[in-house]
Amino acid sequence: MVKITFIGQASFTFEADGNTVLTDPFIDGNPVATVSADSLNPNTILISHAHGDHIADVVSIAKRTAATVIAIVEIAEYLHGKGVENVKPGNFGGTLSFEGGSAKFVPAWHTSSFTDDDAKVAISIPAGFIIRFGGKSIYFAGDTGLFGDMKLIGEEGIDLAILPIGDNYTMGPVDAVRAAKLIGAKQVIPCHYNTFPLIQQDPQAFKADLEAQTDCVAVVLNPGESYDLN
Ligand code: NI
Ligand code: MN
Repeated sequence: MVKITFIGQASFTFEADGNTVLTDPFIDGNPVATVSADSLNPNTILISHAHGDHIADVVSIAKRTAATVIAIVEIAEYLHGKGVENVKPGNFGGTLSFEGGSAKFVPAWHTSSFTDDDAKVAISIPAGFIIRFGGKSIYFAGDTGLFGDMKLIGEEGIDLAILPIGDNYTMGPVDAVRAAKLIGAKQVIPCHYNTFPLIQQDPQAFKADLEAQTDCVAVVLNPGESYDLN
C-alpha cells in the first residue's frame, strides 16, 4: 500500500513502509498548498525538471532532512552546488534505487530552466519517472505534452499514472485521456491544474471523460488530500 498525498501542482508525497518520497517540491510559494515545507520529512526527493514550480523548496527541505535528491545529472550537480549534500544524478533509461524503491528516468516533452541570481540558465532537459515503491508501479509524468512512447512506459505495467491536465504549459485534459489510453494505467491522478489562472481546469470533467472512454479510474485529490493505493 502506498499513501499518496497531493500537495499541489506536481508536489506529492508517497509513503510506504516508513519511507517517504517527495516529488517536485513547490510548497511555501504555492497558492494552493495546505502544508508548509518545514512539515515534510522525506527520505527521497525526485525532481523532474528545474522550473520554479517544481524545485522551489528542494534546497531547504534537502538541507534540513538530508534527503537524497534524485535528478538528471545537470540539475543534481546544480543542487549539490547549492549545498544539497546527498544527490543521486541519473539520466534517461537509468533506474536509481532509493530507500524503499527505485525511480527510472523517462522522457518528458517540456523545457527546463531556472533563474539564478538574475541569470536565466537552462539546466538539463525534463524527465518523468517510473517509480517502484510499496509494491506499486507509479508513472509520474512530470510536465509534458502527449507523446507516443507513453505506450512503451505502459508496457512496464503501470498501476497509477500521475498526469498533468492544466493545458497551456503541459497537456490538457483531452490529451491526458489519450495518454491514459496509451499507458493503460488502472488509475490516474490528475495534477498541474488550478494552481494559477492560466491552468484552470475542471478535474471532475476530466474524470467523467476518462471513465466514459476507458476502464481507467481517475482519483481527483484536492491539495492536502490523500489516497491509499492498494
Ligand atoms: Ni515546467
Ligand atoms: Mn510546471
